[in-house]
Amino acid sequence: MNDSRPIGVFDSGLGGLCAVRELRRLLTEEDIVYFGDTGRVPYGTKSPETIKQYAREDADFLLSKDVKLALAACGTVSAVALDELKRDFPVPLFGVIEAAVDAAVRAARSSVAVIGTDATIKSGIYEKKLREKGCTDVISRACPLFVPLVECGFTAQDNELTRGVAEMYLCDIKNSRADTLILGCTHFPIISDIIGDVLPNVTLIDPAKEAAATVAAYIRENRVGSNGGKTEYFVSDDAESFSASAKIFLGTDEKINASVVKTQR
Ligand code: DGL
Repeated sequence: MNDSRPIGVFDSGLGGLCAVRELRRLLTEEDIVYFGDTGRVPYGTKSPETIKQYAREDADFLLSKDVKLALAACGTVSAVALDELKRDFPVPLFGVIEAAVDAAVRAARSSVAVIGTDATIKSGIYEKKLREKGCTDVISRACPLFVPLVECGFTAQDNELTRGVAEMYLCDIKNSRADTLILGCTHFPIISDIIGDVLPNVTLIDPAKEAAATVAAYIRENRVGSNGGKTEYFVSDDAESFSASAKIFLGTDEKINASVVKTQR
């Protein structure tokens, strides 16, 4: 069955573009609509109630664009708001957690570590889902400073500042039995070289990549492909700075044009 409606992807800001990048690679013919809530980012430091409200508004915006399915590419939204949002969502809604947990369980030999925003780690969702899949030895750590460091472009493998922060944050994980680490926030895969240097011999799991693969498999299994291949970008504030930073996440020098929309009710 051909379904020419676009795939919707949303995030608190820029980070969800990593999922767009992966979806673009896997599903070259799909149209994608991206919404980044740049006017209200970060979500990771906010309360569950606020995150749920924002997530609902972001998802409603994508529905107004007539998407055939949506991906919450944001680690924080997936952790805090997805279950509730899914309840009455009229099209399939994917998050990043299930796919990341499955990949971690496949990769882990002994124990799994998880890093994310404050809200993601406080939610305890990764521990819960990993335990459900038989992985009981889990260590987790919030790493909120990684978000601004990435957004400021401090991402080079030899960046002293980011490396110092990584060493501080990842010390307990380094001293644990963890052999697999879930990079449970959109921004963290961008500094995977630094994280990998601090935690050598640890397998790094990128939830956006895993979730994009899940969405691609769903599209193929249900044969809901389209014939477009274009991506439209929407943000809730400052399209210019979005365009300037988008290349970090999309891994391209191509100019990205975004339109500003207001989602707040
Ligand atoms: N997108 C968020 C996440 O993956 C990171 C930025 C934020 O705190 O909003 O958790």
